Parts: sequence; structure tokens; C-alpha cells
Amino acid sequence: MAPSSQKLTSASCFVLIFFIFVVCFLTWNKEVSPSRKLKTEDSHSQSFNISTIATRLHGVELNEHAVPDPDKVAHEVAALIQMSEQNITARRKLGFFSCGNGNLIDDCWRCDPNWYKKRKHLADCGIGFGSKAIGGRDGRYYVVTDPSDEDVVDPKLGTLRYAVIQVEPLWIIFKRDMVIRLKEELIMNSMKTIDARGANVHIANGACITIQNITNVIIHGLHIHDCKITGNTSVITSPSHYELRDMADGDGINIFGSSHNWIDHNSLSNCADGLVDVVSGSTAITISNNHFTHHNEVMLLGHADSYTRDKLMQVTIAYNHFREGLKQRMPRCRYGYFHVVNNDYTHWEMYAIGGSANPTIISQGNRYAAPKNRFAKEVTKRVGTEENEWKKWNWRSENDLLVNGAFFTPSGDGASAKKAHDLSLPARPASMVDSITATAGALGCRRGKRCY
Ligand SMILES: *[C@@H]1O[C@H](CO)[C@@H](O)[C@H](O)[C@H]1NC(C)=O
Ligand SMILES: *[C@@H]1O[C@H](CO)[C@@H](O)[C@H](O)[C@H]1NC(C)=O
Ligand SMILES: *[C@@H]1O[C@H](CO)[C@@H](O)[C@H](O)[C@H]1NC(C)=O
Ligand SMILES: *[C@@H]1O[C@H](CO)[C@@H](O)[C@H](O)[C@H]1NC(C)=O
Repeated sequence: MAPSSQKLTSASCFVLIFFIFVVCFLTWNKEVSPSRKLKTEDSHSQSFNISTIATRLHGVELNEHAVPDPDKVAHEVAALIQMSEQNITARRKLGFFSCGNGNLIDDCWRCDPNWYKKRKHLADCGIGFGSKAIGGRDGRYYVVTDPSDEDVVDPKLGTLRYAVIQVEPLWIIFKRDMVIRLKEELIMNSMKTIDARGANVHIANGACITIQNITNVIIHGLHIHDCKITGNTSVITSPSHYELRDMADGDGINIFGSSHNWIDHNSLSNCADGLVDVVSGSTAITISNNHFTHHNEVMLLGHADSYTRDKLMQVTIAYNHFREGLKQRMPRCRYGYFHVVNNDYTHWEMYAIGGSANPTIISQGNRYAAPKNRFAKEVTKRVGTEENEWKKWNWRSENDLLVNGAFFTPSGDGASAKKAHDLSLPARPASMVDSITATAGALGCRRGKRCY
């Protein structure tokens, strides 16, 4: 062999060994434990060109607004979830300040003391079906300075109502702590974020929030309670339009015919109807990190057994804490596809999760603590349906922690492990639910400090 070709061989040998080393390293890296993996990714992200990643990510997200054909939902959901998991991983690289508590949303922003300098980054931190809700990310800031709600047809500049009806995207924040007593439902327009971080803001003792026939709303950090029945009067819905409204039920947040909405870190209690109701053909919704107390019918997902359009409904219920004084409907579902993941159920009086009209319910990594009443130990309830019918519904429980005698009655062919495996959302072990939900509800955020 000529010396030059020998040199070549040893060079390619070296390249080969190096290549094997890299492959081994990458494989090993994939297999390390989740918490370890998180750290690895975070430290990597520091050396990437962040602006390039961000642009690519937003490019993808802005082009993804299609709502699946209702008939294909079951088939498409698995793929969608798998993709959104990849995208969560990609997006999480943007966050440097992991809280290290297993909460994928909070890890993206909450432990960054400079959160207030980059409020809009929150819009990149969603997970689940509502993860593409960008709210008012691409718009200006609007500061609410005036808690009043005197004129619901011609609202004053500075009020919350003036902001939410605008056509342009807006990121709405609050100048100071305030209690806003709405005279009539707050009818929102598309592309809005209500971001109460840094102020203690209550929407209380009057009408509450309506998200109707629109897209892209983020509601973050509000205390919403004691919502009343209102209505039978004219209310503004956009700068050029007001309409005569029927009676409003008195829901905390009512989502009607709307998509791409994210309800995160709110504290909700004691309303006339539901705390969060999602009805009438709404889809692509995430309800996360909320704190629910003192209420009977907590969450209704699906309008009526006769309303089959709700087959397209896809809702993620993640990281919420269901606490004292709750009775039922956490949630109560119809038709659609519902992913209930890593929530803490410490209180219910009648049941936790119910449904009718063949909803698909995937419960993963939740903690269900049953009440003392030995007749209320069952997590699940099929409403008004014979067993030979509901036996076909796909309800399953995976890695849930059932305590104090709680039991989940599964049904459907989906009880098979293989099908469940295909639907891999990043559920954490139920043993982590304590730390994941420790800061559920509206946070106390102060400038220059992490939010708790
Ligand atoms: C990152 O990439 C963008 C676009 O390619 C470029 O304009 C910017 O200068 C880069 N920033 C750094 C810190 O390398
Ligand atoms: C996730 O990102 C990939 C590219 O990284 C994109 O093709 C896909 O459409 C995204 N999916 C979702 C559900 O956002
Ligand atoms: C939403 O659509 C429904 C049905 O078309 C209609 O009755 C209602 O007034 C609409 N709401 C708003 C706020 O435009
Ligand atoms: C709605 O308002 C009209 C006119 O003020 C009144 O006649 C009617 O009784 C009201 N309806 C309800 C349900 O309160």
C-alpha cells in the first residue's frame, strides 16, 4: 500500500470512529431519564441561534389552522398528538429557566425573573390541542387602567371591554390590582391575550367572559368568580357592531363555536353555571394550570346529545387542581376527544369525569382522591346510557394514581395497551402531580422575580 493511501485509510478510520461515537452519544442522550433530558436540552439551547429557531417555529404554526373533518377525527388525532409532542420539544428549547417540576408549560417561562420583559413569549408555551393559540402575540400592548364597565355598547378607552372587542390583535395587561364587575358578558374578538401577570385582577360579582365564534384567545392569570346570570340587552361585539343578546348562563368562561383557545393559570369558583364551558362546535382548546373550587357543575364540554357537530371537539385538560367544594363535571363530555392529563383531583362530591353521546376520554397520569362517601368512589359516570351502549365508548385510564378507594371504569376497545401507546402525549408519572400542580391558579408575579 502506498503511504498516501495508507494515510487516507487511517483518516477515514478516524472519521468512522468519530461517527460511531457521535451516534452512540445521541442514542444515549435519547434514553436518559426525562428530568435529565430536560436539562440537556436547556443547556444545548443556549448555544443555538434562538432567533432562527423562533422564526421557523412561528412559520410552521401560523400555517396550521385547519380543523380536521369530524368524520376523520379519531384517525387523525393520534398523528396530531404525536406531532404536537415533537413541537413541544422544539419549543421548549426556547425556555432557559426550567422550574424543574415537570410542568412543560411553566418550564417554558415561569421561572424566568425577566418574564415581564418578554410577556409575549408565553404564547409559545402552550401544549395540547390548544397549543397553537397565539392570542395577541402579533399585536400591540394595551394597558387596562379603568376597572369600570358603565357602557356596554360604547365602552371607554382604558377599560377591558374596549380592548377585547377590537379587530386588531392585542396583548392586554393591567396597570394595577383591580376588581372588574362586568355589567354584561365580556364578548371577545379574535387574537387577544388577557395577561394578568403582575397584578391581582378579579372578574367577579357580575357577568363574565364569552369567547364566541372567534379564534386565538389566551386567558392567563385571572381570578374569575361569582359570575351572575345577565343579558337580555345589547352588548358591543366589535367596533362596528353590537347585538341584542339573550340571557347569559353565568359561566366563568364560555367558549362557543370557537377554536385555538388556551385558558391557563386562572383561579375559578362559584359561578351561576359552569366555570369553563366549551360548546357548539368549539375545538383546539387547552385548559391548563387552573385552580377550581366551590362549584357544582365545573366544566361542560359539548352542548347537547343532539348536537353531533361536537364530534370535532378536541380539548386538553392538563395540570389543573380540582379542589374543595366541587361536586361534578371535571369535565362532563359529549362526542369529542378529550385528553385529561396530570391533573390533581383532591375533591369531588358526586363524580369527577362524566359523559354521554360517545365521547373519547383518555385519562393519563392524574391523581384521583375519592371522597369519604362510599357511594361516590367512582371517578367516572356515564350519564343516562345503558351499559350495552357505553361499553363501546372509548374511555381509558393509564398510569392514573387512584387513592382512597377511587376507581375508574374503562370501556371501549381502546383499553388495549397498543392503541394507547400510539397516543403518546408527554404525560408524566402521576407521582409528580403534586409538584406539577403546586402553583395551579393565578400566580403572584412580581417584576424581577419568578412567578409563584
Ligand atoms: C441568528 O440568525 C439570524 C438569521 O439568520 C441572523 O440575522 C442573526 O445575526 C443571528 N444571530 C446570532 C447571534 O448569530
Ligand atoms: C409540528 O412541527 C412539524 C415540523 O417541525 C410540522 O410539520 C407539523 O405540522 C407541526 N405539527 C403541529 C401539530 O403543530
Ligand atoms: C355566534 O354565532 C351564533 C350562531 O350563528 C349567533 O347566534 C351568535 O349571535 C354569534 N355570536 C356573536 C358574538 O357574534
Ligand atoms: C327582556 O327585556 C324585555 C324588554 O325590556 C322584557 O319585556 C322581557 O320580559 C325581558 N325578558 C327576560 C327573559 O327577562
